[in-house]
Amino acid sequence: MKEASGVRMVTGNGENSYAANSRLQEKAILETRPVLRKAIQEVCTSLSARRSTMVVADLGCSSGPNTLSFISEVIGAVHSCTRKSEEERRVVEVQFFLNDLPGNDFNLVFRSLEQFEDLGGKDTPPFYVAGLPRSYYRKLFPSRSVHFFHSSYSLMWRSKVPEELSSCTHLNEGNIYIGKTTPPMVIKLFQEQFKKDFELFLTLRFKELVSGGRMLLTFLGRKNEEMMTHGEVGTLYELVAESLLSLVLKGRVEKEKLDSFNVPYYTPSVKEVRELINKSRLFDIEHARLFESNWDPQDDLDGDVITRLCWQRGKCRQLHKGGDGAANRRPLWGGHY
Ligand SMILES: C[S@@+](CC[C@H](N)C(=O)[O-])C[C@H]1O[C@@H](n2cnc3c(N)ncnc32)[C@H](O)[C@@H]1O
Repeated sequence: MKEASGVRMVTGNGENSYAANSRLQEKAILETRPVLRKAIQEVCTSLSARRSTMVVADLGCSSGPNTLSFISEVIGAVHSCTRKSEEERRVVEVQFFLNDLPGNDFNLVFRSLEQFEDLGGKDTPPFYVAGLPRSYYRKLFPSRSVHFFHSSYSLMWRSKVPEELSSCTHLNEGNIYIGKTTPPMVIKLFQEQFKKDFELFLTLRFKELVSGGRMLLTFLGRKNEEMMTHGEVGTLYELVAESLLSLVLKGRVEKEKLDSFNVPYYTPSVKEVRELINKSRLFDIEHARLFESNWDPQDDLDGDVITRLCWQRGKCRQLHKGGDGAANRRPLWGGHY
């Protein structure tokens, strides 16, 4: 079965690889580090047994240094949590699942894990890493088996391009994402695909998360409701569309191909995300934050910003007790554009 949209980052660690060009995504990980630490420590503290296992999944992990820095942050947070309880000699073993689409360069990830071989001092929590190649828009884990879900810079990718666009039932006027000339009906199609995907994602993860589990999501979005304020992301796709159009005009690309090509993408507003989470009645939002960073990967100053949204969903209060009230929901922290 073909997984999701077939999106994948450039493999390997050469000059043009994702691994060598993921500084922008690294900025998001650095920005959310305090939230990540707090969430992991809360999950760790909630594991009451002297010996316990914490299952942690990174969804859309890709390949490169960001995957490793996430693992290292989690290990650090678990370490400081168990150190505090030294007298009780608590041991928390961490089982990591690194998830991405099957086309991801998992080999690079596994090879780079060798760097962690020497990490294991006597106090380092024991940890194990496995790959999980499958779309996160499908069931990934047995029910109530995961303590912490993390996803950074991935959830703006849709499971597919809306069918009405790929079949050319509706045309996007030469755009490949939402651009200035995109018809309102086409905007609606992108929005609806996002709603379907995000609702599915929340439902699947809710079933897989243990009671007391948490989820931290960071993805690209819009600062407000205005559809064209997705800043540089929208501009970027407009520039690509212009280049493709010039190839059509030169007869080097067939017009029908450009007409049927759209990017499986959508950058929601905070309001849209909040509404869907609240409507699902599955999670409580513990923290939602919108932050911006410079579009230039090497420039850490403000200006020419890109907006990101970071959501953290946290502990479940009395999950699976029946009914659909607040008592069944799990917390979520969010938003970073
Ligand atoms: C920009 S990369 C972010 C990688 C990493 N989290 C980071 O912070 O550097 C987005 C990743 O999401 C993955 N992705 C997109 N759609 C996905 C899906 N439906 N299921 C799993 N992974 C997906 C892509 O393959 C890609 O590796």
